[in-house]
Amino acid sequence: MKTVNIALLGCGSVGGGLVSLLRDQHEQIRRRCRVDLRLRKILVRDSERIREGVDQTLLTDDPEEVIESADLVIELLGGLEPARTMIRNALVESRNVVTANKRLLAVAGTDLHDLASVHRVRIGYEASVCGAIPIIRILRSHVNCLDVTQICGIVNGTTNYILTRMAEDSSTFAESLEEAQRLGFAEADPTLDVGGIDAAHKLKILAELAFDQRVCLDDVAVTGIEAIDGSDIESARRRGKVIRHVARAQRRGDRIEMSVAPEELPRDHPFAAVRGEENAILVCAAGAGEIFLRGKGAGSLPSASAVLGDVCDVATSN
Ligand SMILES: NC(=O)c1ccc[n+]([C@@H]2O[C@H](COP(=O)([O-])OP(=O)(O)OC[C@H]3O[C@@H](n4cnc5c(N)ncnc54)[C@H](OP(=O)(O)O)[C@@H]3O)[C@@H](O)[C@H]2O)c1
Repeated sequence: MKTVNIALLGCGSVGGGLVSLLRDQHEQIRRRCRVDLRLRKILVRDSERIREGVDQTLLTDDPEEVIESADLVIELLGGLEPARTMIRNALVESRNVVTANKRLLAVAGTDLHDLASVHRVRIGYEASVCGAIPIIRILRSHVNCLDVTQICGIVNGTTNYILTRMAEDSSTFAESLEEAQRLGFAEADPTLDVGGIDAAHKLKILAELAFDQRVCLDDVAVTGIEAIDGSDIESARRRGKVIRHVARAQRRGDRIEMSVAPEELPRDHPFAAVRGEENAILVCAAGAGEIFLRGKGAGSLPSASAVLGDVCDVATSN
């Protein structure tokens, strides 16, 4: 049986979830995929801290040491650096990479994909958009037959949670955000989420796959949800509408138009039923018509399961 040695960069929310899935599903993966996944080292900032369910002897704060023993590098640090440099080094040394880092992919994805192609290795990034919803897999494998005309989605759980609370409990924006932070859906610094930048990062990744062409992050027209208040929600409700924060990319001739903005949608629109921290994606394709996917867009285990799917794919493919 093939053995694949794994270096894990980051053991926070998603990394910690992945450690538990690698342990709990180890035998099943051996049986079904005929591959033995071995976690060799885990890079963290604080290697002294005890982490429940994590073998303390695997932890290191030395970036050099962590990569050495790996066939496959899983990047779950977040942010641009040192994630970008560590992924680049791994690719140059012909190691496969799996990442959930949407911000890095939106900013430096082209460079990283080119590097992977030169060194004949793969980058898996299913968890970077919509957590457990397998939209990257679908677009990657079906793009040639789908002929996508439009792709849109609720791709940020924090903004959807806030809009849902404001509509259903008449909470204010500030109260809803505070609740989202207390429940762990929203970051301590929610600027990228409520301002729509996180959704723009994900839209860029989706648009490039869906339309099989490069697009520019600066071409996404971004409006956050900070200015939405109770009167907007009430006014929409009176007209039979709901407000959702929608990321949308559509083909117009040779151009791809992209936006992230609050939109008023009819109550029978599929996105109207997407509540709380859920995510959803609607793909409109010339032949296939509409394809609707809905599910958990973030969180430790949903995101880790998307990472694990990529790990199994990459580990069994070469
Ligand atoms: N959370 C989600 O639901 C979710 C969903 C989809 C995608 N993602 C993406 O997944 C990635 C990870 O997110 P997360 O929520 O798991 O982050 P997190 O909870 O903040 O965990 C980050 C981990 O990386 C380690 N780390 C960060 N910078 C480091 C450095 N310079 N050197 C060594 N270790 C470092 C931290 O070490 P310490 O533990 O010692 O601090 C921590 O273990 C991000 O790119 C995020 O955008 C997250």
